[in-house]
Amino acid sequence: MPVPVPNAAESTPEAEAALASRQPNRGVRHLAVITDGNGRWATRQGLPRVAGHRAGLEAVRRLVRMAIDRAIPYVTIFSFSTENWTRPAEEVGELMSLLKYFVRSDLATLKRQNVRVRILGERARLQPDVRALLDEAENVTRANDGLTLCVAFNYGARSEMTRALRAIAADVAAGKLAPEAISEEMIGAALDTAGIPDPDLLIRSSGEQRISNFLLWQCAYTEFVFSPVLWPDFDEAALDAALDDFASRRRRFGGV
Ligand code: IPE
Ligand code: MG
Repeated sequence: MPVPVPNAAESTPEAEAALASRQPNRGVRHLAVITDGNGRWATRQGLPRVAGHRAGLEAVRRLVRMAIDRAIPYVTIFSFSTENWTRPAEEVGELMSLLKYFVRSDLATLKRQNVRVRILGERARLQPDVRALLDEAENVTRANDGLTLCVAFNYGARSEMTRALRAIAADVAAGKLAPEAISEEMIGAALDTAGIPDPDLLIRSSGEQRISNFLLWQCAYTEFVFSPVLWPDFDEAALDAALDDFASRRRRFGGV
């Protein structure tokens, strides 16, 4: 059925949602992705896990291009969690090396693609060379105003919220802030995602159906899509299937 184009006078939330669902981005302003399944992808082909992470990086490059093509303004990827340190030291080392390789080899391209890079997560505990590259990625792309690519690295939502609470508590302890004055906006502004809209859609690849300590505050009203596709295989068909699924949902934000 054709969706009527609303004029300003008769624009309703339903009509606006119907219109948005026909855009290439289906009304998704912020797409968050848990890029899961690299290890299984490699194991299935008799390859070492690191081969899966390398193929996963290629899928990240593809995601950036797909997001730009579909005019999705914000994309967040979960690249390394605060819990990933429990993996064998060799794999942790490989993931660190891959991040360094990514920044060194792709930063010029990202700059040219008008991508602005933001890093989420705790940088203090990372090796100085990793930290320096993350800082460089943010600094070099700071003036870009196309896609914002948030890379969650050494990120965990509980760690993020703990750091935010410490900062707010310090202001209270210093007498600069009354406890009653703490607002949801203030908490949001103290998180790593300050200034970034909450995700509309969260995709987790590889069939796992968990949030795994990702964006717990920000996902209060996010729609979740669990894709069976392993991350290295995540392509246009997989993304568009998730976007179509999103477009078919009626978001009510607690209303009726
Ligand atoms: C995701 O793939 C990569 C990271 C989060 C580092 P996994 O390494 O978790 O792959 P599986 O889950 O073992 O298949
Ligand atoms: Mg996994």
